[in-house]
Amino acid sequence: MAEATGTNQTKSMDEIMALCKRRGFVFQASEIYGGINGFWDYGPLGAQLKKNLREAWWQDMIMLPCWGKKGPGGERVRCVPVETTIIQNPKVWEASGHVGGFNDPMVDDKETKQRFRADQLFGMFVALHPGTHADEKAQVVRRILQDIEDGLLPVRTFVASGDADVADAVENGKKLLKPYRVSDLAQWPLDAATVLVANGLDDSKNGEHLLCVFRPVPPAMLSDRSPAVPSPFSGKSGSLMPPRQFNLMFKTYIGATATEDDIAYLRPETAQGIFVQFKNVVDTTRVKVPFGVGNTGKSFRNEVTPRNFTYRSREFEQMELEFFCHPDESADWYRFWRDFRMEWWQSIGLAGDNLQLREHAKDELSHYSTGTSDVEYRFPFTAPGFGELEGIAHRGDYDLRQHQEHSGVKLEYFDTDRGELLPNGSKRGERYLPHCIEPAAGLDRGVLAILCESYTKDPSRPSPEIMRFHPRLAPIKAAVFPLVNKDGMPEVAEKLHTELQGKFGRAGFIETDAKQSIGKRYARMDEGGCPFCFTIDGDTLKDQTVTVRDRDTGAQERIGIGSVSKYLEERLGI
Ligand code: GAP
Repeated sequence: MAEATGTNQTKSMDEIMALCKRRGFVFQASEIYGGINGFWDYGPLGAQLKKNLREAWWQDMIMLPCWGKKGPGGERVRCVPVETTIIQNPKVWEASGHVGGFNDPMVDDKETKQRFRADQLFGMFVALHPGTHADEKAQVVRRILQDIEDGLLPVRTFVASGDADVADAVENGKKLLKPYRVSDLAQWPLDAATVLVANGLDDSKNGEHLLCVFRPVPPAMLSDRSPAVPSPFSGKSGSLMPPRQFNLMFKTYIGATATEDDIAYLRPETAQGIFVQFKNVVDTTRVKVPFGVGNTGKSFRNEVTPRNFTYRSREFEQMELEFFCHPDESADWYRFWRDFRMEWWQSIGLAGDNLQLREHAKDELSHYSTGTSDVEYRFPFTAPGFGELEGIAHRGDYDLRQHQEHSGVKLEYFDTDRGELLPNGSKRGERYLPHCIEPAAGLDRGVLAILCESYTKDPSRPSPEIMRFHPRLAPIKAAVFPLVNKDGMPEVAEKLHTELQGKFGRAGFIETDAKQSIGKRYARMDEGGCPFCFTIDGDTLKDQTVTVRDRDTGAQERIGIGSVSKYLEERLGI
């Protein structure tokens, strides 16, 4: 039986990564030189899978936006593309806030030479008090939080960027609590930062009362007493430096002199390229507000802790849309895009419990945003929690206003369909800065989610590892096999292969292979995620039929060789 894909908790990232390497989906960048942290290459199947996902976004967001659905006011959704450069005038990043604000406070461990984000340092704080273990939970918590405020240092620290890391650390921490008769060890509904509290009794210490809490190390403790805090890597104190601001943008120099005046940045997002070309797009096309502008391409962030395969990389690709609309209509468009983006990810194979739409709480919003939601996926390394796949943000007029102020160029839009009706029957018009709804998706993260969701193990099949890609995304669309490499079968297979490649080869690979047993050839196709295999056998030569094998069920049926193209056309949606 195939494993339940419900929660992704049973899938092993090691197995998924091994298959990705073995079948040429993802390779470590510069692997023969030992790799380079935070950079990944795509092999033949991965490159085609990624292209298919990018293409699906392009088709459904730009060419036929939202599959032709109507917007909130019943109008057609209109979008156009741009393709902007990775290196922009550095003033773009001053206006966008990335030069001043795209910073993470970082801590260096001078002994192990490792660096981590200050807000990802968790501590295990333990204190002993005279008394009993029968204290009220609230009292226990109050006492230990007061101890921490008074300077109680953590006995252990660990870097945690998600629920799964914290859960791991708590598991390890529990071992330290073994000598205590811990009476209550559970996640209590405390403040959001405090993850677990233990309340126990230490027999060896004459009945002292043990309090333990796992929570982030307070920022003030790191700033004022970092050498006293134990290193999350060595466990020893004395090596942590005070936090320093660290800008995530990669710097480069333009021209040969390489002075401070020549500094430029690799873009950390594709979105700003859209805002700075807003006026050109309006002036050179017939678009009218509301309309969207899409941009896809590489972005770069000097992530401090690149991790979890391609999830947090230093070079990655984004697919972003800025949808410009009248301020009065922006709340409706925000809801429209939020819901459509969730539906889109579901339509390409992420349907089920592993996908969720999470609306940000008020205190999570940027100062200019009146609404932000994330489409989140439960990756095996975040399970049971979720990781962000795409953010949909109502950005108000923040970006256009910033660029208008910094560039001195007016970016207001003159809307001839608004304003009072004039005696001549036309409208007076209204000048305004459009509001913007931004669905911002990560292409590499999308590919990773698709890889994780598609990966299925079924020990009962000769090919226990199957990639159940949605046919639209599958990098191999079909395979044609002669059952044996003789008796006229290879010739028929070759002819069918040529026909299918001519019709479907632009959308993905059409494979053919005459070597090895048919079972091994099917297994290879299952691992590559090929949805349909057509086999030419002895009967084909007599009655012009072939077997078609379905990847997901392993079931086979016979169809006429003349109807193979139509069969594929219907199932691939091409
Ligand atoms: N313009 C808005 C913006 O860039 P973001 O949430 O920082 O928003 C959008 O990025 C998407 O880009 C994320 O949801 C994620 O899918 C992807 N992304 C961001 N940083 C990434 C990284 N270091 N590696 C891979 N993908 C990343």
